[in-house]
Amino acid sequence: MLEIGGMRVDDLAKTYQTPLYVYDENQLRTRLKDYATLFQSDDFETGVLYASKAFSCCAMVKLVQEYGICLDVVSGGEIYTAYKAGFDMTKAYFHGNNKSLDELQMAIDTKVGTIIVDNLMEAQALNEIAKKSDHLIHVLLRVNPGIDAHTHKYIVTAHVDSKFGVSMMQEKEIVDLIQTFEDNPNLSFDGLHAHIGSQIFDKNAFVAEIEKMFGFVKKLESDYGIHLNTIDLGGGFAATYTSEDHPIPLDEVCKTILDTCKKENTKQGLSIQKILIEPGRSIVAEAGSTIYTVGFTKQTPNKNYVFVDGGMADNIRPALYQAKYNADIANKMEQAKDCIYTVAGKACESGDVLIEDIALPKCEPGDLLVTYTTGAYGYSMASHYNKLLTPGVVFVANGKAREVIHRESYEHLIGLENND
Ligand SMILES: Cc1ncc(COP(=O)(O)O)c(C=O)c1O
Repeated sequence: MLEIGGMRVDDLAKTYQTPLYVYDENQLRTRLKDYATLFQSDDFETGVLYASKAFSCCAMVKLVQEYGICLDVVSGGEIYTAYKAGFDMTKAYFHGNNKSLDELQMAIDTKVGTIIVDNLMEAQALNEIAKKSDHLIHVLLRVNPGIDAHTHKYIVTAHVDSKFGVSMMQEKEIVDLIQTFEDNPNLSFDGLHAHIGSQIFDKNAFVAEIEKMFGFVKKLESDYGIHLNTIDLGGGFAATYTSEDHPIPLDEVCKTILDTCKKENTKQGLSIQKILIEPGRSIVAEAGSTIYTVGFTKQTPNKNYVFVDGGMADNIRPALYQAKYNADIANKMEQAKDCIYTVAGKACESGDVLIEDIALPKCEPGDLLVTYTTGAYGYSMASHYNKLLTPGVVFVANGKAREVIHRESYEHLIGLENND
């Protein structure tokens, strides 16, 4: 029987029902600690912002706070979660390409420390709203450096049409935007942010990003007399989903980033003081697994299906971008994997396939199938398609489990409906 965090998977399934998201809490803690200790420099003030979109809940926010890590939030809901969890909101950074005026006001009211402005209209709106603030708000601008790194390779493009940020090619717009804040005593414009992609395996992508960012900061300084002190390089650090994935080791990626920043600061004659990164997936993905119960199996002329009691509603990533996962039958860990299966979910969509062609022991109803590395963008992207219940989430450590999010009930499901 497979164990996670010292707990038998069948005990977890029995106590909390399936599907169930399970996080190995010690693994989460190790990852947070590693980021906090490895992303340190004698040359810069540094900050690690956990991108809470990867997995946001009060328990996770509390863990993040324990390790002195900051928080990237992207909506009123993520602000609310952090605030209710007692997070020090001065260490929160508010992202988003279409923040509503209410969300901006909420950020000010809850004393979110930094707002990352995404476009000129937002800058103007923030400038107005912030006039009534009773405290100083730090501001960064998201720029689009034209580097796309969503895969093993990265490409430097002239891609100027992203919905996020202002392209570095739109220099005048960037200068106008920065000048919007000039006379507002409640706003401090600190610097630039960029995020070049997800699941990045090539450290040269970050090197290219840093060179572009520092080069651009230099241009703003020499051509327009704009002095900046902060660069936020975004997230995108890869996780291991299958044996084909080989992420850059954390110490190596941290060192590469900080060394390159130092080199560029000297080369460009700049005095950037603060470097930020925003890992999401690489903190939570590998610590998470999902437990399913096997239902029926079925043979077609070309496939062996095993059906599980969840699927695209709790993990949209395979359907959305052909993400690959590994799995085991928790109660048959020592049996030969001599059958090739397609693991499919129970939703009414042919695309509801979690894994194509995986070798597993012969599956039978009641078996417990565990998919690994589901800790990022699983729960946070869950849907109610087919009115499936969102699974619960448990943190396990040293043989003990604690339920950090309850499994939904049918009452929750229609709880907000007008059933007159
Ligand atoms: C602005 C920004 N920062 C950080 C992240 C986190 O990325 P990852 O989870 O790949 O580290 C994202 C992901 O979409 C993002 O858009």
